[in-house]
Amino acid sequence: MFQDSNTFYYEETDSTNTRAKEYAKEGGEAGSVFLAESQTKGKGRQGRTWVSPKDGNIYFSILLRPDIPTQKAAMLTLVMGYAISLAIEAETGLCAQIKWPNDLVIRGKKVCGILTEMSAKADNIEYVVIGAGINVGMESITQEIQDVATSIKLEGVKKVDKVKLFACILQEFQKQYEVFLADGDLRNISKGYNARLVNVGREVLILDKGNEYKATADGINDMGGLLIEKQDGTLETILSGEVSVRGVYGYV
Ligand code: BTN
Repeated sequence: MFQDSNTFYYEETDSTNTRAKEYAKEGGEAGSVFLAESQTKGKGRQGRTWVSPKDGNIYFSILLRPDIPTQKAAMLTLVMGYAISLAIEAETGLCAQIKWPNDLVIRGKKVCGILTEMSAKADNIEYVVIGAGINVGMESITQEIQDVATSIKLEGVKKVDKVKLFACILQEFQKQYEVFLADGDLRNISKGYNARLVNVGREVLILDKGNEYKATADGINDMGGLLIEKQDGTLETILSGEVSVRGVYGYV
């Protein structure tokens, strides 16, 4: 599927998402991968910074050109989150759960974040760049995020073969991506995704454009929306990108 793709490796770069987007604008091939040991301008969601020291972590982006309607692009982030969760478990034995829509957590603390950026004209996707930062070898976490972040090493797996883990992520992503493209939605992914979803059955706080309310999360549907039950018993589906979700007493 990605036969003509290239791999770009950097000891240090500003942001692998930025590298991937530049390559996309030059006409770069779908499936091309951008991998860095450290980033000087790592980007997080909602304009945040993704601190990216050279600490044995994984920072990578993949360039895609899927032939799907733009409103389905958000599902790709869930596909990547699911693939990374499977790969972490296969390579380390750790259970990396998913915090909807696409953070990965181990024992309640974030170990991986994913940032998807898209360019489209009308309803035609020009490219999608999915970038992920995985805390693998980090041995200490800065004080501000100590309560909410962790790394694979800090979770007790001292020796992780980063190359093998990365290869497994790409392999798993390619497999799930093909399933997603064939189906056009998450019908064959949602069951596995929900089995890993940390939010299921939990009370969560929904943050919706300044409006905050509590609900119980019930898992995703085949379009990647999170089904929730509000406190008055009404059922609703919330969409990623429009609202965010966090635990009532903390991050998860
Ligand atoms: C988040 O806020 O949770 C998303 C973090 C995404 C970080 C990754 S690291 C590789 C890629 N390049 C970036 O600049 N950001 C993403």
